[in-house]
Amino acid sequence: MKVHGKPMRSIWVEPDGWSVGIIDQTRLPHAFVTLRLTTLDEAAHAIRSMQVRGAPLIGAVAAYGVCLALRGDASDVALERTCTHLQATRPTAVNLRWALDEMRQALRPLSPSERLTAAYLRAAALCDEDVAINRAIGEHGLGLIESVWARKGRQGRVNVLTHCNAGWLATVDWGTALAPLYLAHDQGIPLHVWVDETRPRNQGAGLTAWELGQHGVPHTVIADNVGGHLMQHGEVDLCIVGTDRTTAQGDVANKIGTYLKALAAKDNGVPFYVALPSPTIDWTLEDGVRDIPIEQRDGRELTDISGRLPSGEVVTVRVTPEGSPVANYGFDVTPARLVTALVTERGVCAASTEGLLSLFPERRPVR
Ligand code: MRU
Repeated sequence: MKVHGKPMRSIWVEPDGWSVGIIDQTRLPHAFVTLRLTTLDEAAHAIRSMQVRGAPLIGAVAAYGVCLALRGDASDVALERTCTHLQATRPTAVNLRWALDEMRQALRPLSPSERLTAAYLRAAALCDEDVAINRAIGEHGLGLIESVWARKGRQGRVNVLTHCNAGWLATVDWGTALAPLYLAHDQGIPLHVWVDETRPRNQGAGLTAWELGQHGVPHTVIADNVGGHLMQHGEVDLCIVGTDRTTAQGDVANKIGTYLKALAAKDNGVPFYVALPSPTIDWTLEDGVRDIPIEQRDGRELTDISGRLPSGEVVTVRVTPEGSPVANYGFDVTPARLVTALVTERGVCAASTEGLLSLFPERRPVR
């Protein structure tokens, strides 16, 4: 994707060949600031503080976090300690565990002296794989948008609603839910995106709106509770969101508020699609509502809100009464029955065990 017209990814190895560059997403949309990660602790902090966020990008940063740690100590003990440390940074997105497992599998069989070079190679490969996966999701999702456009007689515009940020900032490039939208826009399909603000951290208002703006995609930011009203009035042709963990039966964990959008979509006959890269599938879980760990974050994300004054100064103010308790749930689970289809890198399938296994037959349990 491009920032101010310049192509870039959301994570890169710096010209020194070892430190890792990221975009500080806590500063967007007010300032575009990049950071250089040099230690395991800086990588872990970047994930925990959400300087980087989004399931695939969290995995990529964790992979490079392993590289940074191995620079000091590449022993078996250090490798395990590093993975445990990174695994504890955020609980819901399964890509974190997936990426750490991939790194372990690549590095464990090697001798400590071989591990550092191999770690950087594996982390780079994971990033390249993420880009290829998202591009393929984009192609498959584009087909869905093209069909809506054809059904509308190629008149007006295709209105899409999305929640949170599942764009290139949440991945290494392209995004998951936004990849089809970028491709559709580039093909000249007149597209308009309703962007849920996505309280409390405003990933929609701050990140998705910024990304879409950088790419010139028409969009409108809406308060989180507007989607149902728009659907009742025929203003949404389809919803597409990303996911942080999807179970083997197709239950989808995503940013808090996704479930309510899926309910509204069902009630109004609006297709509700989930863009799902395969590393986000947790094949070990079935019932997402029961089994997916839901992150609860610092209440200050809810009690305080920050924004930019006309002077350019970014300020944070409190919006709740002093002393009112708050509960800050980061994610919810949309049951498979509310999901019209999953859009994966291998194609589009039903949100069900059979649907997923039809695209990933190698996961079918051997009897
Ligand atoms: O808390 P975040 O910002 O890391 O959560 C990210 C999301 O919930 C995204 O919407 C989701 O799609 C995963 S990233 C493709």
